[in-house]
Amino acid sequence: MRSFIAVELDDAIRRKLADVIRQLQRHGLPQDVKWVRAGNIHLTLKFLGDVEDNLLPEICRALTELAGQFDPFEFEISGLGRFPPRGAARVIWCGIEQGAEDLEALAEAVDIACNELGFPLENRKFSPHLTLARIKAPRVGHEVREALEKINAVTTAPGENIAIQSVDQITLFHSELTRSGPVYTPMHHAPLLA
Ligand code: 2AM
Repeated sequence: MRSFIAVELDDAIRRKLADVIRQLQRHGLPQDVKWVRAGNIHLTLKFLGDVEDNLLPEICRALTELAGQFDPFEFEISGLGRFPPRGAARVIWCGIEQGAEDLEALAEAVDIACNELGFPLENRKFSPHLTLARIKAPRVGHEVREALEKINAVTTAPGENIAIQSVDQITLFHSELTRSGPVYTPMHHAPLLA
């Protein structure tokens, strides 16, 4: 079962991100950018890949145990960026302002707990972000980079809109890749400070 662990977003944040995506689309980004459906946007803490079914109960147990050791917290979405920072863009993301350190601590604990169950540790530093779009072709990625460098009118700032997300649980998701796009199904919720 293709799986990952993430923080789910409230509808208000998803609406805000849908608005950011609409603003970006109006600013002339290339057509062949694959936008993430607002309902699918989440904050990934750890991508597990294919997991044997018999390991799932252990993962759920480990997540519940570690989540119970964290206090609930909040994060604020702010700013746009791309991966990689130089060259052809492969991902357009919305960044995290306040709360990034809490997310880093949570992701590190998740990484360690998963490692104890046999998953490899991340070799890159966790960088909390919300993926808004993915780009396959390097040609398109270069166009995206140029377009993003020119755009400064797109705002992710809270303003009148709510852009603060509470984190009071983490979620193990099942990811199915279908022809009409990925389908993410929550399989287990692990509450912070149970
Ligand atoms: P990202 O979008 O936050 O960067 C579900 O597929 C989530 O797992 C995605 O949102 C993506 O994170 C992450 N993901 C998917 N495939 C991955 C891979 N091969 N390696 C690392 N993370 C991956």
